[in-house]
Amino acid sequence: IPIERIRNFSIIAHVDHGKSTLADRLLEFTGAITKNSGQNQVLDKLQVERERGITVKAQSVSLLYNYKGNEYLLNLIDTPGHVDFSSEVSRSLSACQGVILVVDANDGVQAQTVANFYLAFGKDLTIVPVLNKIDLKNADPDRVTKQLQSLFDIEPQEVLRISAKLGTGIQSVIEALIERISPPKVDRTAPFRALLFDSWFDKYRGALSLIYIQDGEINVGDEVQSCHSQKTYSIKSLSLLRPQEVVTKKLVAGQIGLIGCNMRTSKEAFIGDTIHLSSCPVEPLQGFEPPQPMVFAGVYPMDQSQHVNLRSAIDKLTLNDSAVSVDIDSSPALGQGWRLGFLGLLHLEVFSQRLQQEYGAEPILTAPSVTYKITLKETKQNIKTGREIFVNNPALWPDTVHIEETFEPMVIGTIITPDKYLGPIMSLCMERRGVQRNATNIDNDRVMLQYDLPLCEIIIDFHDSLKTISSGYASFDYEDNGYQSSNLVKLRILLNGTAVEELSNIVHISKAQSIGRKMVLKLKEMIPRQMIQIAVQAVCNGKILARETIKAYRKDVTAKLYGGDVTRRMKLLAQQAAGKKKMRMVANISLPRETFIDVLKK
Ligand code: GTP
Repeated sequence: IPIERIRNFSIIAHVDHGKSTLADRLLEFTGAITKNSGQNQVLDKLQVERERGITVKAQSVSLLYNYKGNEYLLNLIDTPGHVDFSSEVSRSLSACQGVILVVDANDGVQAQTVANFYLAFGKDLTIVPVLNKIDLKNADPDRVTKQLQSLFDIEPQEVLRISAKLGTGIQSVIEALIERISPPKVDRTAPFRALLFDSWFDKYRGALSLIYIQDGEINVGDEVQSCHSQKTYSIKSLSLLRPQEVVTKKLVAGQIGLIGCNMRTSKEAFIGDTIHLSSCPVEPLQGFEPPQPMVFAGVYPMDQSQHVNLRSAIDKLTLNDSAVSVDIDSSPALGQGWRLGFLGLLHLEVFSQRLQQEYGAEPILTAPSVTYKITLKETKQNIKTGREIFVNNPALWPDTVHIEETFEPMVIGTIITPDKYLGPIMSLCMERRGVQRNATNIDNDRVMLQYDLPLCEIIIDFHDSLKTISSGYASFDYEDNGYQSSNLVKLRILLNGTAVEELSNIVHISKAQSIGRKMVLKLKEMIPRQMIQIAVQAVCNGKILARETIKAYRKDVTAKLYGGDVTRRMKLLAQQAAGKKKMRMVANISLPRETFIDVLKK
């Protein structure tokens, strides 16, 4: 197929606006899958997708469509649809010249619509706006068209109206793709050059990489080299995804294909890398930053006998999710473990759920933390003077006397809400130390708010709180906005005078008192009574900010049990034994497994 008849595009949308349903319809319409075959949401359900862990990665599919007597190759590159994964959306867009921006004609423009629009706009891509779900009784396409016009300067006549569910208007989408999006600027006569934009692990073939071929062609048997690692590989397999894998001997510029070249780990397939023929070095393509982990948490086995199992479970899961960073960690109370980095809190939660469900590993997770930046004081004895360090583990926070200045990561948060929830939402943002950037009316009763927010303030239950106070109507998305100087302190928790590092937390000085108080009360609620009395204290810079006492068992309670009925007593003992399994001894006190992460939740 000549280059002029290739179109590379993605579908971007707010969660649930119908991206997967539209993708299915496009597949059906072009004959890639048969109609009504019950294969709903084909892209999400592909074998590869299932094997590669959470469905946050991009999945590509090549479609053929005959338009005005010519055959066109339409490469659809799927993008994940959650706030945690905007860096992955950005990555997928690197291989595209255009996007379909899907907006629910009932819900209207939402926070991710805005974030996704600007991602695509920033990359100079053609945007094909599509209103979906026009079949719904409450759909108001005129109103949503006006929102698109006032927010993004989109001309009303450009906006398509469809129902992905019923299959109405699908042809207009395909024709708009062909007519509005330009073909890729590629050169088939130049030496082979390709962008590696996704990869996953296959049990039999090792790491498989999805590449976008910018120049030249590639054949099975060719020797290729990575610009990133300089390592060379021999191409073992080439295939197209349509959506089933179709094996081929050659791929040419403009195509998107899957290569297998005996990479033993997915780490070797470096996302954003440029691949070329070993015999013919090239200028690397402008890649993109691989996604950076933003949220870190310690992961420890319940007891050290489970260490090996947990390690193999983590290994298996990270094989297919290269966005997770893994470092060895150890803690005095919890022993040997790992510090894992995630793209966001959802990513962390999905990962730990999978550890549990798929590998039966029941790890202890510590409270999530972000990466802080610290400049150290220049002291004569300290050789590493004036140095800048990055800390994502409160246990490694330096002593106050060594700290010159502390910085925390910031984000720009976008919230879209019906205006009746404005008051409580603004209070929530203020409580989270947010500073308003602007507020825009997007129509009669909807507002878009933008806030500068510290990342650490939104990683724990911000999204949930927002949903609760707006009865589910407000939407939220955020983008990274660098570091800002901030007065941060370490809040320690002492149990009977012993500091439990795993419960310590970095907080803004203005919140130390209130968070200390909350944590102590929460711990009092969470830690069951034990044989000894337990003093729970929150301490900051040597000052005790809060204290609670958990009283010991009363002797007569146990005594009474002995007099009771035998079966009841057995039952209680069994329950206690089961309960004990999930407890972890720290400072001679047994703590429930969830303590470390739940202590920060409301
Ligand atoms: P994520 O994968 O979670 O990002 O969602 P998505 O954007 O892919 O949305 P999906 O296609 O899963 O659709 C979300 C819901 O909307 C599903 O229950 C669909 O059946 C429904 N839906 C999609 N398109 C239409 C439509 O045109 N009309 C109606 N009434 N419902 C639709």
